[in-house]
Amino acid sequence: MIRKTNYGYVVDKNNVFLHIGIYSSNVIRLAYTNDNSLPNSTFAVIKEINNIEASLDGNKIMTENLDITIDDVTLKVSIFNKEGVLLSKDRNIDINMINVEKEILWEQGFYGLGEKYGWMNHKGSKFSNWNTDVLGVTPLHNATVDEYHTSIPFYIGLDRDKAYGIYFDNSFRTKFDFGREVEDILSFSAEDGIIDYYFIYGEKVSNVISGFTDLTGNMPLPRKEFLGFQQCRWSYENREELIEVAHKMREENIPCDVLYLDIDYMKDYKVFTIDSKKFSEFKEMISHLKSIGYKVVVIIDPGVKVEKNYWVYEEGMEKDYFVKDSKGDVYIGEVWPGDSVFPDFLRSEVRKWWGALHKELIMDGIEGIWNDMNEPANFNDDSKTIPKDTIHIDDNGDKKEHKEIHNLYGFYEAEATYNGLLEIQPEKRPFVLTRAAFAGTQRYSALWTGDNHSIWEHMESSIPMFMNLGLSGYTFIGADVGGFAGDSNGELLTRWTQLGVFTPLFRNHSAKDTLHQEPWCFERKYTDIIRKYTELRYRFISYLYNLMRESSLNGSPVIRPLFYHYQQDEKTYNINDQFLFGKDIMVCPIVKPGMTKRMVYLPEGEWYDYWTKEKLVGGEYIIADAPLDIIPIYIKAGGIIPEDEVSQFISNSNDILYINIYKGEESKSKIYFDDGTTFNYKEGLYSEIEIAVEEEDNHLNISLSIDKDNYRIPKIKLRVFGWEDKNSINLDFSEIEVELI
Ligand code: GLC
Repeated sequence: MIRKTNYGYVVDKNNVFLHIGIYSSNVIRLAYTNDNSLPNSTFAVIKEINNIEASLDGNKIMTENLDITIDDVTLKVSIFNKEGVLLSKDRNIDINMINVEKEILWEQGFYGLGEKYGWMNHKGSKFSNWNTDVLGVTPLHNATVDEYHTSIPFYIGLDRDKAYGIYFDNSFRTKFDFGREVEDILSFSAEDGIIDYYFIYGEKVSNVISGFTDLTGNMPLPRKEFLGFQQCRWSYENREELIEVAHKMREENIPCDVLYLDIDYMKDYKVFTIDSKKFSEFKEMISHLKSIGYKVVVIIDPGVKVEKNYWVYEEGMEKDYFVKDSKGDVYIGEVWPGDSVFPDFLRSEVRKWWGALHKELIMDGIEGIWNDMNEPANFNDDSKTIPKDTIHIDDNGDKKEHKEIHNLYGFYEAEATYNGLLEIQPEKRPFVLTRAAFAGTQRYSALWTGDNHSIWEHMESSIPMFMNLGLSGYTFIGADVGGFAGDSNGELLTRWTQLGVFTPLFRNHSAKDTLHQEPWCFERKYTDIIRKYTELRYRFISYLYNLMRESSLNGSPVIRPLFYHYQQDEKTYNINDQFLFGKDIMVCPIVKPGMTKRMVYLPEGEWYDYWTKEKLVGGEYIIADAPLDIIPIYIKAGGIIPEDEVSQFISNSNDILYINIYKGEESKSKIYFDDGTTFNYKEGLYSEIEIAVEEEDNHLNISLSIDKDNYRIPKIKLRVFGWEDKNSINLDFSEIEVELI
C-alpha cells in the first residue's frame, strides 16, 4: 500500500522501499532503499521539497501535470501526462544490480549526458560516466572513448510535443544504454550506491532543462569581462613573454580581455607559489596588465607537492586534510610536481582552507582561477586517477571510498574555489574555470572541454558536445580554440575562431612543444580574419550577456540545438553541425579544410543572411557561401539584436548601443544592463528596456520603454533591416535617447 510521507509517498515490498518525492508538479524523485527513510542526495541536488501538491488514488499518484502509477508488487512505475500519454514505463528494476530498464516508447531522440564525444543524438549508443583525464587515452578523443573529464548523468528524451529528462543522482561510475543492447530498452545503472533518480517532465525541452537546473542550481551571472576573448598557452614561461603577448594583442588591435598563466608560473609546480625568478615583481606585472585592460587567471591544480617545509603540504598534513589510502596513510600520487597528495574536498573544512589559500593571489591582482587535473588526474596509476579504494572523510566523520567521490571531486574543488574567492572579495563575481565537473557544477564554475587536438574532427565534434552540455545545464562552456595538442595551422585556427565567437567561453589555448597559435602566428591573411571575428565577438557582448542573464534565471543554454526552438520539426533532431546562439542567431560553422560552401537547414519562418541582409524563407536546406572569411550566420526575422561598438577590452563605459531590428512579424525583446562585476543587481541595481515592433497600415511602429532604471541605459542607435522606407517608421520612446540610423 502506498503511504503518504512528508516528502511525498512511500511503498514497500519484501524490504525494498520505493520513495516517491514530489518536488513540483513536473519533477518527481524515485529512490529505492532498504529502509524507511529518504536517502541523502549527492552534492548536485539543492532543491528541497516545500509543499507537496499531489493526491493519491489507489496505486495512482496525481500531480497537476503527471499521473504516476505504481505496481505495488514489482515496484515498477509508469508515468503519464494529463492527456494520458505514457511518458515513461519501467521494464525492470533490479535493486541489487542498481539497474533500471525502461521501455523506449515514442522517443525520437536522446540527448544530454554532458561532455560526450559523437553525434548529439545518443539513440543506439551506450555510455559510461567516470571523470577521466583523456589526453593519452588511446585512441584519443573519439567515438570509441566515452569517459571524459566531466560526467553528467542526465538525459533528455524528446518527441515532437513531449519531452522529459531523467537525472540519475548517483556519483559512482554510471552507465547508460539508449537501445544499444536491446533495441526497445533504455537502461541506466551504477557500479554502487542505490537507484535514486528524478523524472522531469516538460512538454518543451526548455522546461526540462529549467526543471533540471531548478534541481541542481543555475549558473550565477558571470562577470561580463570574462565573456571577452581569452588567450592562453601552456605556458607563457616568464614575465617578458606574457607582457609581449599582451602588448602584441593591443598592437594588432585584436580585442582581448583575459590572459592565463599555466603551470610554469609556479615554483616547481607548487600550488599557491610564484616562481619569482621567471615572474619578478609579479604584483606590479599584474597591475600593469590590468592598466591595459587584462584580467589574469592562474591555474591551480589539486595535487599538492610532497615537500618538507612547503607550507601548503605541511599545513594540510598537520590538519589531516589529504586523501588516505585504504590502510589509512596519506595517499601519494604523481602529478606535475612529482609526488603529490590530494586535498579531501569532500569535507567543508578542507574546502574552506583551500578557498582561503587563494588570498595572496587575489591580493596580487589575480582575477580568476583555473582548476585543472581535477578528475583528479594521477600519473602513477593505470586508472589515471587515484585508486577507487582511497578514503575520503565527510562532514560527519564518516569514511567514503573514492569510487563514490571521484565524479564529484572537481565539483567540490570548484565550490571551494568559488566560495573562497567570494570570501576574499565579496563584491566581485568570481570567475572559476574547471575541467572536471558533475551535474550542478554550473553553480560555481565555467567549463572547458579539456584536452582536444588541433584537428578538424575535434572542432566538428565540439559542436554536438556543446549542445549536449547545454542540454545538461551547463551554459558557460568552450573548447580550446585552435586545438590544444598537436600543431594548429592558419586555416584551422581561423575556422575555429569563427566558431569560438559563439561559445560563451572563448579561449585560445595550446600545449607545450606545439606551434604557437596566438592570432598572429600564421600568415597575415589569417590574422586579419581572426581580428575581424574577435571584433564580431565584441559586437555581440551585450547580446551574449543577456543570454547569460537569462540562463542564470532559468538554465537556458546559449548554444542550443535547433530543436530547442523548433521541437515540432523532426528534421532538427539530428543536426549536429549548426546551432542557435540564443533564440535568434543561427550559426553554421565550417569544420573541414578547404570548404567554402555548406548546406544549412533553416527551420520554418523567415531568416536574414547576417552578412548580406538577404531575406530567406526557411523550412528547407539552402547552400551557403563560406569563403575563408565567412562563417554563415542567419538572423531570425523578428530578431532584436543588441550590438556593441568594438572595443579592445570590455569596459562598462560604452555609451552607445546599437539595436538591430530584423523585421519580421510582431516582436518584442528586453535588454538588460548592470555593472557587469558586482552583485548589486541582486539588490535591483540594474536597468532593463523593452523594445516592441509591429507593422500597422504600412507603418512600422517601434516602441522602447524602460522597465527598470536603476543602473544606466546607454544611448540607443536603432537600425532596421527588411524595411526600406525609413519615413514610415514610427518611433515611440520616452526617457531613452534613441536615434534611428
Ligand atoms: C592539462 C590541461 C591543459 C594544461 C596542461 C598543463 O593537460 O588540460 O589545459 O595546459 O594540463 O597545465
